[in-house]
Amino acid sequence: MNFNFANERPADADTIIFAISKDGLQNFDPALEQANTVKAAAKVARFAGKLGDLFETFVTESGKTLRIVLTGLGKGKAKDAESAGGSAIAKILTSGAKHAVIDPSGLDDEHLAKLLFGAKLRSWRHDKYRTTMPEKQKVTLEDITVLDQDLESAKIWQDLSAVADGVALTRELVAEPANAIYPESFVARCEELKDLGVEFTVLGWDEMEKLGMGALLGVSQGSERPPRLLAMRWDGTNGEQKTPLALVGKGVTFDTGGISLKPGAGMEEMKWDMGGAGAVAGTMKALAGRKAKAHVVGVCGLVENMPDGKAQRPGDVVTSMNGQTIEVINTDAEGRLVLCDAMEWTQETFKPEVLIDLATLTGAMIIALGNEHAGCFSNDDDLAEDLIDAGKDAGDPLWRLPVGPAYDKLINSPIADMKNVGPRGAGSITAAQFLKRFVKDGVKWAHLDIAGMVWADKPSPVWDKGATGYGVRLLNQYVADHFED
Ligand code: BES
Ligand code: MN
Ligand code: ZN
Repeated sequence: MNFNFANERPADADTIIFAISKDGLQNFDPALEQANTVKAAAKVARFAGKLGDLFETFVTESGKTLRIVLTGLGKGKAKDAESAGGSAIAKILTSGAKHAVIDPSGLDDEHLAKLLFGAKLRSWRHDKYRTTMPEKQKVTLEDITVLDQDLESAKIWQDLSAVADGVALTRELVAEPANAIYPESFVARCEELKDLGVEFTVLGWDEMEKLGMGALLGVSQGSERPPRLLAMRWDGTNGEQKTPLALVGKGVTFDTGGISLKPGAGMEEMKWDMGGAGAVAGTMKALAGRKAKAHVVGVCGLVENMPDGKAQRPGDVVTSMNGQTIEVINTDAEGRLVLCDAMEWTQETFKPEVLIDLATLTGAMIIALGNEHAGCFSNDDDLAEDLIDAGKDAGDPLWRLPVGPAYDKLINSPIADMKNVGPRGAGSITAAQFLKRFVKDGVKWAHLDIAGMVWADKPSPVWDKGATGYGVRLLNQYVADHFED
């Protein structure tokens, strides 16, 4: 999709989008020959400008058929403009429309930029493997022209556009199948971030073995695909923020369950078990892309969890980088084994004060919260609250769940320091307790279990079915609110 900016409606435009707030129809005065007809028709169709309201009609001007789309802005909150823009684009993306114009009437820069942000988010598609797609399902829209030339260079749009690019990277990493995205190719796919000024550190098997990452490598040992630990560092503060905010993502590029093999039905979904790492990579792209005045490091623990003659067995005991021993009761509880070493290395290497991990960690999270909120677990009330607020503002909702000593003792093992699964109950919490055992004293930590959020079975205003890009808008907002002045 091309986004253009102009002060006049281009001659080849075939669609015009107007955003209208609740009860705003009476003031609607479009620059169209048949303005009154459009208004009257919208009224008849009971378009009231409510959020989610959409109205489409056609007018003829100088012998040309123009598609007119009205999208409801609701009460006019800026974040509602984002979904209004997304809904309008969803309506026309495959409609035959080729060149849409966004009319900025009644919108200030912030609302217009958000509208366009929603449009950019919603126009992302992943059709590359569909070689025989029916014509009518194909994207027809090629250009979106905003009738406001000044917005193009405005910081608010430049920033949001960069965030949308970050979301797109996350979605691509998540949507790609596991024969395309595996640890090495994940790193390769992220390499473009170097051009934005992001510094890379990549560890392979031998380096991780020397560091004693027995938990992460235990998961990896059943796979033909070598593991990677990828650290991406962005410092937009000229060295002023000494220690970075640390983001750590679970990057299991495919999770068969290992020897504790998952059932076949639905196993293909486990290609998105790298959604935490994907969110971290997308966030780094967003932050670097908009030159955020913050110092942030994003670490991705990348492995494939496979059953094999060399795979680890249930009952194996592995030793993590910081010397804790873990009895692997279930090789399908692999995410925590990857994260614990990635978190230890991150803390040793970067000495962060705040560490946030993201992971598609437990199926139990989906049982608890469905696909409406990710779970938030934290050792710090302020951090939890800040993240929940950022999520609300950005459109990536979070809900807090408890951690505490009574849950912690459920993962004690009779033969090692801990086991990698607890009893049936509180599965998401015991997973969080496991990670908490790897958080160093004084570090503020939050764990976001995003299992229900990275993939959607139904479209929303800002994404189609499939990869959502969850986490990027949330973390970008959190950084903007708390790490940039
Ligand atoms: N990647 C899965 C979690 C998951 C499962 C996410 C289904 C989304 C949908 C994770 O590695 C896993 O397998 N967790 C197990 C833990 C159990 C063995 C304690 C689970 O949730 O079943
Ligand atoms: Mn698993
Ligand atoms: Zn997993």
